[in-house]
Amino acid sequence: MEKIIDQQLQGSALDRPERLGNTKKLYIESYGCQMNFSDSEIVASILAKEGYDTTTDLNQADLVLVNTCSIREKAEQTVRKRLETYNAVKKNNPSMKVGVLGCMAERLKSKFLEEEKIVDLVVGPDAYKDLPNLLDEVEAGREAVNVILSKDETYGDVAPVRLGGNGVTAFVSITRGCDNMCTFCVVPFTRGRERSRDPQSIIEEINDLALKGYKEVTLLGQNVDSYLWYGGGLKKDFKNASEMAQATAVDFAQLLDMVATAQPKMRFRFSTSNPQDMTRSVLYIMAKHPNICNYIHLPVQSGSTRILEAMNRQHTREAYMALIDDIRKIIPDCGISHDMIAGFPTETEQDHQDTLSLMDYVQYDFGFMFMYSERPGTMAARKMEDDVPDAVKKRRLTEIIERQQKHSALRTKNFVGKTVEVLIEKESKKDPSFWSGRTPQNTVAVFPKEQYQPGDFVLVHIEECTSATLIGKAVQMGNA
Ligand code: SAH
Ligand code: F3S
Repeated sequence: MEKIIDQQLQGSALDRPERLGNTKKLYIESYGCQMNFSDSEIVASILAKEGYDTTTDLNQADLVLVNTCSIREKAEQTVRKRLETYNAVKKNNPSMKVGVLGCMAERLKSKFLEEEKIVDLVVGPDAYKDLPNLLDEVEAGREAVNVILSKDETYGDVAPVRLGGNGVTAFVSITRGCDNMCTFCVVPFTRGRERSRDPQSIIEEINDLALKGYKEVTLLGQNVDSYLWYGGGLKKDFKNASEMAQATAVDFAQLLDMVATAQPKMRFRFSTSNPQDMTRSVLYIMAKHPNICNYIHLPVQSGSTRILEAMNRQHTREAYMALIDDIRKIIPDCGISHDMIAGFPTETEQDHQDTLSLMDYVQYDFGFMFMYSERPGTMAARKMEDDVPDAVKKRRLTEIIERQQKHSALRTKNFVGKTVEVLIEKESKKDPSFWSGRTPQNTVAVFPKEQYQPGDFVLVHIEECTSATLIGKAVQMGNA
């Protein structure tokens, strides 16, 4: 899920609920994973009821909220820099309040108020419904912190205010938290236990998006494949195993089947899949529904079984390859992407070569590649020395990136001469006379605008490509 580009998201007038009389201004910025961007839309919705409209002008803000990421040290540094900027603005506008949301809030808790003098409130990912009370506390001049993690909060009952989107594609969260405990990862500590959202509320949100003209939905979770909803309620509501077995459970394959059937004209994607939890039934459901995009983001982190074990990844190199084989068999034209970490503790040159050879085996369409960054509190930080020198980490990362670029170029080249279905999302950044959208495999495609509009499904004949982008010409409207 995490498309870890530290991107900025700000409020827009798009899809704002009609609310008259809102007088206060909220400026909200998000960093890190897509879940954070999605959570900010929940926060905007909660605060709309408290009299806040969003603004994109920091100078006008009564309340500034920054939704933060702790995944790597660099992500935290970015946020600290932003806090300095807010501080400068606050000097001219002393009544402006500043709050920190998300993973950094959870990780640093009230330490934030001491360390960062400009922060007025600190709110963890499961405490957003408490924001109205916390703001009252701030108004009364008291410190406001709520970082309590929940076992059942899914915000299923909050209709998100869509922020800064394109009106065509949207994210719908289906699970929160993660129980996997990969040893390098801070997420289980900052986002808490895994829980699944009521399928009914998921379908309702999707139906509402369809009514508003959205054409593509990505189902979001740290680990979507372990989605599991027990008909009668949450796992903890059942007295014993047999009572639980009698309830009708919905797993991820069934959820996919339900959403694809409910909105046959919408495209569906999901992210992120964990190799150990991805079932073959999910692949068959993907193959069954033309409106589920043939694309899987399948982080692997390393190609060495020994490192995978040290990472507590619950699958071997061979099991991952077998899953890839099945994907290729069941969904022959499936796009596959990955996340990879270079320089995990104890990683040898041979482990690194195993990573490169795994990449050669899969020939991923694209990937998100990182240098290992030790995170306080994780198992790896507690039990292992961060012993791969920085220069070695960097060199290995460069080799991984270069290998990926080679594979990406091969993948995009395969599309040249073919006709693909593209959902138009927005104007191309490089050339305003071109539209930009994505193929089902999640590759960006651009083509001259002609009579087409954002939200149109268009068949595009691909004429040339770079390693990341397909360039072509629309031939006709698509079917969806
Ligand atoms: N399951 C999540 C993973 C979140 S973290 C999801 O939905 O995307 C995203 C990626 O960041 C991970 O897959 C991993 O490749 C990388 N990452 C996580 N912790 C890291 C660390 N300590 N150092 C470097 N990269 C890390
Ligand atoms: Fe992190 Fe592993 Fe979960 S990468 S989010 S602990 S699947």
